[in-house]
Amino acid sequence: MLEEMIQQILNGCSEAVSKAQNTRELIEAKVKFLGKSGGLTMLLKELKNVPPSQKPAMGKRLNDVRGHLEEAFARAEDSLKTKERAQRITAETLDVTLSKQSTEYGALHPLSIVKNDIINIFTGMGFQIKDGPEIDFEYYNFTALNIPEDHPSRDSADTFYINDKMLLRTQTSAVQVHVMEQQKPPIRILCPGKVYRPDDDATHSPMFQQVEGLVVDKHITISDLMGILGEFAKKFFSSETKIRLRPSYFPFTEPSVEVDLSCSMCGGKGCRLCKGTGWIELLGAGIVNPAVLDCSGIDSTEYSGFAFGMGVERAAMVKYGIPDMRLLFDNDIRYLKQFR
Ligand code: DAH
Repeated sequence: MLEEMIQQILNGCSEAVSKAQNTRELIEAKVKFLGKSGGLTMLLKELKNVPPSQKPAMGKRLNDVRGHLEEAFARAEDSLKTKERAQRITAETLDVTLSKQSTEYGALHPLSIVKNDIINIFTGMGFQIKDGPEIDFEYYNFTALNIPEDHPSRDSADTFYINDKMLLRTQTSAVQVHVMEQQKPPIRILCPGKVYRPDDDATHSPMFQQVEGLVVDKHITISDLMGILGEFAKKFFSSETKIRLRPSYFPFTEPSVEVDLSCSMCGGKGCRLCKGTGWIELLGAGIVNPAVLDCSGIDSTEYSGFAFGMGVERAAMVKYGIPDMRLLFDNDIRYLKQFR
């Protein structure tokens, strides 16, 4: 009677094992036959009704059957798992030849490119990079630069004041003074940074960037200024570019000059870009006014220097023929992309 039931279970199991399509079905079958309330467990409970003389043999028989079935299930599970893994790998295969939508690469803003180029050229000529505060004392921005009390640039229509004594610097020339107070000659520095003025039109922005250059040493003359700026123009614009100096006026330099570039479009013949003159205005410069040296604690009878100040936006506009400064601040990706 018990043996008959054993046979049923054995047959049932072997049928279930061969039918199972996946591990889930197999485990369900295993629970059905070997689980806590499964068929075989039920049979083990029947043992108590078996006559004592047959009990050991029947107990051993049932245990052997359990061992046999567990092995059969384990083997089946192994092979189903292998099969399933293979199926999963096939299903998950990536087609690496499939083209995808390409992502855009970021790039430096043209003003950063231009500023970095300027910095690289001057550091290549031995200039040190110096920073100064954007919120500064009136003293550094004006007074120490020999700008008189009644100079129009000090007017509140031309300068953003924070209070009586402090302002948003209007020129990186202010950094000259900070450096000269702390460092004695020889000085050869370039000060890039943001400056602020209440102007806003196609060629002016309330915030723009300048680089200030300052060289102070014994026997510095205007030839040194011409040599350095001529070299810069060739490196930054083209090897054909020439510079010319035009007399000008700044309180902090004497003599003062405007530095013009030969027009890259017409080569000096005169065109739309240079408004027919053959030259394009680039920056202001000059021989440092002895009063400025003395004010910052440098003996002007022993030392002399030259200085220059250049607008980064202006340099970018000249270099790339950009007609309106606002194009550089609108941040229209389609426009900025061209400079990559
Ligand atoms: N600071 C002047 C400006 O903002 C530019 C300048 C002119 C700087 C002559 C200089 C210089 O150092 O010598 O317009």
